[in-house]
Amino acid sequence: MSAADVTFRIGLLGRGTVGGAFEQLLPKHASRVELLTGLRPSISGVLTRSTGSFDEILARSELIVELIGGIEPAREYVLRAMREGRHVVTANKQLLSQHGEELWDVARAHGVQLRFEGAVAGVVPVIRVLQESLAGARIDRVHGIVNGTTNFILSEMARSGITFDEGLAEAQRLGFAEADPSEDVDGRDAAAKMAILARLAFDTPVRLDQVRYEGIEQIQPDDLEYARELGLGLKLVGTAERVGEGLSVRVHPLFLYPGHPLASVNGPFNAVTVESPAITEITMSGPGAGGPQTATAVLGDVISAMIPPASTPPTTQQLELVHDVVSAFYLHLEVADQPGVLAQVAQALALHHVSVKSVVQKGLGQQARLVMVVHPVLESRFAAAMGDIADLEVLRRPPRAIRVLEEQFG
Ligand SMILES: NC(=O)c1ccc[n+]([C@@H]2O[C@H](COP(=O)([O-])OP(=O)(O)OC[C@H]3O[C@@H](n4cnc5c(N)ncnc54)[C@H](OP(=O)(O)O)[C@@H]3O)[C@@H](O)[C@H]2O)c1
Repeated sequence: MSAADVTFRIGLLGRGTVGGAFEQLLPKHASRVELLTGLRPSISGVLTRSTGSFDEILARSELIVELIGGIEPAREYVLRAMREGRHVVTANKQLLSQHGEELWDVARAHGVQLRFEGAVAGVVPVIRVLQESLAGARIDRVHGIVNGTTNFILSEMARSGITFDEGLAEAQRLGFAEADPSEDVDGRDAAAKMAILARLAFDTPVRLDQVRYEGIEQIQPDDLEYARELGLGLKLVGTAERVGEGLSVRVHPLFLYPGHPLASVNGPFNAVTVESPAITEITMSGPGAGGPQTATAVLGDVISAMIPPASTPPTTQQLELVHDVVSAFYLHLEVADQPGVLAQVAQALALHHVSVKSVVQKGLGQQARLVMVVHPVLESRFAAAMGDIADLEVLRRPPRAIRVLEEQFG
């Protein structure tokens, strides 16, 4: 078989933040994709405002990745590609929220795939979950923090008491907001994404112009200050929910109590909760934008389009299963209340290179309780230290240990 026979040619429309990241990502994964699919993906041509010809790229591609954004000419290119039998992958929420039904109709009519995971919540796999995993659930409500710029600004306002303008300037300085952030801060970007999620979750055509939206420009620092005293956190939340026999899709600032799964989503992160009687509630969260992150979602869609539906590809790796991993631990000891006990415990830990991060000691009459958290260490070392500690004469009960996850997100 010649190289040409196994090459899967991808035409790339747009080489900006996401398109450029996709162009870099694809060659790094080409060998693995070839093992999975039998086809080696490669870029057959790139279209920007200054380079490339759409007709030539289309003629030599099996699949088109559209990362231009906006309505025209993206709409025309996507329609033409599908009418000529090509699969299309896009991250274009503007296009899907305004012309989705036309595009999905054409995809069905021509038996091609139109995939768009990157269009909502970046690399968080909400589209797949709604279209595939939850296809059997009757969904009652979807809530989403689907705009990272506004979530970052609100998080900063809450954290350091700054104004909306200062929060926006900080978001722009750190690259979390565009030079023209108007569609982010006025809620329109989130509304476009909620239109797409509502369409999938409720199986009903929903266009952007049917979504009511408000932004966060009016939020004052003291709104956040008073809310904190009441135990509330403020987010820009999109909601799509059944109301009687109808459907409400809207975006507005919303106070949340700390127990809500969206309350702890901070910074530029996105999250979507799906509620259904069958599943109670599912929350997905992660990076909602960014070139490499969104390009990862785009590549996932490309691979899905290359694999025949409903098949699980063969494995391509023989990774060894590792059992001795690194973990931090909480350690609870009940010991005789006498001098030198802490030193004995510390010595047993030090012998196995286990170092203590924090310790609390409490007297309990004749006994004392020593509670400590140790820094991440190989579990085998910690187990050896526990063995030595269990043999100490000063111990009154067997030691108890629980692993600690140290990472904090957001
Ligand atoms: N950026 C993100 O984090 C992110 C996240 C999720 C989804 N998305 C979506 O991904 C898509 C691309 O976003 P992006 O941030 O990568 O955009 P971008 O950085 O502005 O890049 C756009 C690219 O499209 C090209 N282009 C624009 N108009 C064109 C035209 N008329 N003909 C041919 N090429 C044209 C530009 O060409 P030049 O290079 O010549 O200017 C550029 O290469 C959008 O739909 C966006 O909503 C982006």
